[in-house]
Amino acid sequence: MAVTIDPAAALPKRADNADLRRVLPALGPVIPVIVVEDAAHALPLARALVAGGVRVLEVTLRTPAALAAVEAIARAAPEAVVGAGTLRTPADARAAAAAGARFAVSPGYSPALAAACRDAGLPLLPGVATASEVMAAAADGMSFLKLFPATAVGGLPLIKALAGPFADVAFCPTGGITPDNAPQFLAQPNVAVVGGSWLTPADALRAGDWARVTALARAAGALRVA
Ligand code: 3PG
Repeated sequence: MAVTIDPAAALPKRADNADLRRVLPALGPVIPVIVVEDAAHALPLARALVAGGVRVLEVTLRTPAALAAVEAIARAAPEAVVGAGTLRTPADARAAAAAGARFAVSPGYSPALAAACRDAGLPLLPGVATASEVMAAAADGMSFLKLFPATAVGGLPLIKALAGPFADVAFCPTGGITPDNAPQFLAQPNVAVVGGSWLTPADALRAGDWARVTALARAAGALRVA
């Protein structure tokens, strides 16, 4: 499959949170949150998403197969930018980097995890749910933050409210985002991208229905509001 990689949209070595803020939104409006139960699914899944125009892939460290999946995609699908999600501990950061993850996503923010990601050369997109957490992550040099779990903690009204005191912060709402509500989130000036699991349904992965994944990816790519 011939995929042209725009060098301007590539993550540099030793990328940081500011690089993520620049590069991830340039690659598409939706980051798929992926749960891989079988490492053999990783490559066909990555190729199906890329075929649909989705190149940024977040493989969550929630299953025994997750690190092998990251490794397989990093090794054999260079057209994808693979990251590891659900990082909770410094050990997770080291394991994700060793597997070849290009970026990290966590459900929350902790200084220990942020430091471990820096040490491992992994740019981090940390999760926040409150103004205090935004301030803690910002004090640690990060202004591109995942709002998680986005709809449960306040959804659109919270995103709009955070824009006042934190006008310099860009968010990736994740958790409860759907094709129906994504356009409203993406229309907010402080929303750079959204994350969601709907591009990679468990039953499609089990059935090897890669055409369905490609179709979902293609539809997700069209969600950004002009
Ligand atoms: C998750 O934790 O699984 C992600 O936030 C995705 O949430 P979603 O399934 O609501 O998209």
